[in-house]
Amino acid sequence: MKEEQPINNAEYQQLTDDINSSLITHNSSLLTLNYKSTIIRLENIFKVYGTGETEVRALSDVDLTISEGEYCSIMGPSGSGKSTAMNIIGCLDRPSSGHYYLDNIDVAQMPDSELAHIRNKKLGFVFQQFHLLQQLSALENVMLPMVYAGIPNSERKDRATEALIKVGLEKRLQNKPNQLSGGQQQRVAIARAIVNRPVVLLADEPTGALDSRTTQEVLDIFTELNDSGITVVMVTHEPEVARQTRRIVWFRDGQVVHSHLTPADLSQVAN
Ligand SMILES: Nc1ncnc2c1ncn2[C@@H]1O[C@H](COP(=O)(O)OP(=O)(O)OP(=O)(O)O)[C@@H](O)[C@H]1O
Ligand SMILES: [Mg+2]
Repeated sequence: MKEEQPINNAEYQQLTDDINSSLITHNSSLLTLNYKSTIIRLENIFKVYGTGETEVRALSDVDLTISEGEYCSIMGPSGSGKSTAMNIIGCLDRPSSGHYYLDNIDVAQMPDSELAHIRNKKLGFVFQQFHLLQQLSALENVMLPMVYAGIPNSERKDRATEALIKVGLEKRLQNKPNQLSGGQQQRVAIARAIVNRPVVLLADEPTGALDSRTTQEVLDIFTELNDSGITVVMVTHEPEVARQTRRIVWFRDGQVVHSHLTPADLSQVAN
């Protein structure tokens, strides 16, 4: 058996350095694993449309927090405030009162020009009806948000092409929307939504106009984007769509009645 040798000072120093650095690496990886920053925080949000007899309270005291990297769906009966909440989260509309912190900045009372800038930089949108410009090709539609974001002309085409490849449309770059199927048009809309590299992708019933096969294609893209780190928040009426997300928020009468349902909980929630 080999006899144990006492270690000298230099070896001792090396050993403690090694232990310390491995502890630091270990701790920082634990920190990375545990640290999820809040990206969306709605606090005490009210939204009222109209006045007097025509007044509609679309949102009433809504609190909602979504962390970076979540894949979340918003469900609830028609008229329960889902789109109103999404429009506020997407900075397309403002609350009547309350605070909305997007990436820790209170955007509820921000001037329009600043709000547009933040929206363009941090958020991407997908809507049920695609909202593509009919006279532009797929490539030109996807290049458009970069014009507003001030991306140099030379870069726009490359980035738009890259985004369209990501959604599987490399062979359809020059097609106009009316030369594409519904699912392909929605994929162009997704490419347009991600081309400015948003932190959050928001989608209001993105599969509402699609058949079940194309619905799955779109959901597969959302899952991939979420796996790559983008926070995805989607409104849907379809339980089979919501089941593919990781968290379900349930609205009723302008309020969040369940904020953290899992797909497995879904069958227990009554409309
Ligand atoms: N611009 C508006 N003016 C007046 N009332 C509105 C407006 N937009 C929405 N509302 C009302 O606010 C409430 C919430 O509407 P919202 O569109 O958020 O519902 P939703 O949950 O998205 O419904 P759906 O599932 O049918 O899309 C409804 O009573 C609706 O009629
Ligand atoms: Mg709606």
